[in-house]
Amino acid sequence: MNHFLSIQDLTRDDALFLIAEAKRLKRERVEHPSAQFEILRGQTLAMVFEKPSLRTRVSFEAAMAHCGGHAIYLAPSDIGLGKREAVADVARVLGGMCDAIMARVFAHKTVVELAQWAGKPVINGLCDMEHPCQAIADLQTLAEFRSLENRKIAYIGDGNNVCHSLMLLCAKVGVEFSCATPEGYEPVPYFVQKAQEEGKVSLTHDPREAVEGADCVYTDVWTSMGQEEESARRLEIFPPFQINEELLSAAKPDALVLHCLPAHRGEEISAETFELHSPEIFAQAQNRLHAQKAVLLRLMNHRGRVTPRPLTSDA
Ligand code: CP
Ligand code: NVA
Repeated sequence: MNHFLSIQDLTRDDALFLIAEAKRLKRERVEHPSAQFEILRGQTLAMVFEKPSLRTRVSFEAAMAHCGGHAIYLAPSDIGLGKREAVADVARVLGGMCDAIMARVFAHKTVVELAQWAGKPVINGLCDMEHPCQAIADLQTLAEFRSLENRKIAYIGDGNNVCHSLMLLCAKVGVEFSCATPEGYEPVPYFVQKAQEEGKVSLTHDPREAVEGADCVYTDVWTSMGQEEESARRLEIFPPFQINEELLSAAKPDALVLHCLPAHRGEEISAETFELHSPEIFAQAQNRLHAQKAVLLRLMNHRGRVTPRPLTSDA
């Protein structure tokens, strides 16, 4: 694993390791916070954002600080990725100065191009196709509140980036995944096929069918960043796919509700359901910190695993 652009970059062992490591790092942060101070000392993460963020930015920045490293936030207007400067040139500059890059972009091909040119690990902090860091935190949360064995997640709403990564990760680690979307808003067939090759994944247009027997019901916004002009149309189509108490009555009685946030109460989730399930939803948000730390340490912590190179004249 040199980069983390997609859940498809992970083997099953990688995926289970990252989830378990996120749980371990969370415990360690509480019990021995100073244990992490030196792990990434002197290392720098460049954080490139083409879109807004709360959780992704703060979790990566806090994770770097906890581990003794530094994170540099680069706002959309700072770089003009691909406009002010070619992606390949930005990648080579950041790769020359920093130890890793995390990027939130519009097009998946942008993170692929960054990875081709940076010469350093690149992490996908969300693109149009995937949100792999989110999926690690999501299954960490399921593992904490329940377990990963013999579990079913029902994803209700838009077959989007969050849906793709969660579906791929569930299939990889043996969690059943059932997805209910309106017609025309299904996940991309390529991702469905990849997930179905690895695990138990089903699609439907009936939310009640999807949540039947689910241990966890998951949703995300109906209109993702970059789709704003479709918002009015989506608001007409998606209401039968709202997560609310009536829909949850078809799931297991103790089913968790997860949401990657930000949430739109009264749209993809009712205000009542959101508040009833706020303990797990905000644990899920906090778990982004621990999941990101696990990803960063997997890609950046070479101390003790790689023999240090002797200093040379060009070092
Ligand atoms: N869930 C998530 O990625 O949140 P942000 O968009 O605030 O980073
Ligand atoms: N699907 C959403 C996720 C936000 C974290 C988006 O891409 O805007």
